[in-house]
Amino acid sequence: MHSRSAWLALSLSIAAIVAPGLAAAADAARGEKLGYTCHGCHGIPKYKNSYPIFNVPKLGGQHAAYLVVALKAYANQERAHPTMYSHAVTMSEPDMQDVAAYLSGQELKPTGKGIGTAPKAAQTCVACHGIDGIGILPEYPNLAGQHADYLRHALKSYRGGQRKNAVMAGMAAPLTDRDIAELAEYYSNQRPSLCSTDQIRNGGRCEGT
Ligand code: HEC
Ligand code: HEC
Repeated sequence: MHSRSAWLALSLSIAAIVAPGLAAAADAARGEKLGYTCHGCHGIPKYKNSYPIFNVPKLGGQHAAYLVVALKAYANQERAHPTMYSHAVTMSEPDMQDVAAYLSGQELKPTGKGIGTAPKAAQTCVACHGIDGIGILPEYPNLAGQHADYLRHALKSYRGGQRKNAVMAGMAAPLTDRDIAELAEYYSNQRPSLCSTDQIRNGGRCEGT
């Protein structure tokens, strides 16, 4: 009896560990329908946000788990952006997972080596974002090939407190504008690269436009 309940407890805790992996069952076909409007901005290479002006982030090849984290942050206004808020706030958790599975499209494979010389300030970043800008955990966004002006905008938003994330607030706090410019330049030059979602929509591989 005793050992049976111990076994039950063990199987329950294994189920709890395995359960997050079930998110892999996200329905990308359903996500394609839900994500139709997203291409209007994220599909078009070099589509610009206005006020401030920067390139809309590439989502193709991004970790699906991170895309869900980002959508939740817009919905609960840890990240402020009027258009992204109005999209995210109407989405359920399964909606977010399905759209993320579809838009992310494919996994970018880490190469373990950087292109060009990493700036000094990147020493701390590589532990999570990799030397080649491929996040080492699904919650750590890929930075490889992302638009440099978007990366600058993101880092300044963490530093200024407009974007709230405890880890990145701590990382961005000591960075000068020059550090931010160099980091953004470095990571935007890494390959394999994130891409605009039109490449995913057209069934192509994510090749960095
Ligand atoms: C009108 C243009 C527009 C549309 C349509 C749009 N987005 Fe966005 N999206 C943006 C902009 C601009 C940002 C960057 C905002 C910021 O500064 O945080 C963004 C950011 C994001 C991010 C965060 C990316 C990152 O690297 O952190 C995700 C995820 C996202 N959008 C998903 C979606 C999804 C899913 C849809 C469709 C349901 C969608 N977007 C529709 C303009 C748009
Ligand atoms: C301990 C792990 C860790 C370290 C170290 C780290 N980051 Fe991050 N980074 C994260 C996480 C987690 C997020 C997502 C936070 C969120 O949800 O906003 C993130 C987000 C970002 C983003 C936003 C990406 C996007 O698509 O919007 C940029 C840019 C970034 N980090 C750059 C850096 C740079 C540059 C450094 C070094 C100075 C660094 N990070 C160090 C974990 C880390």
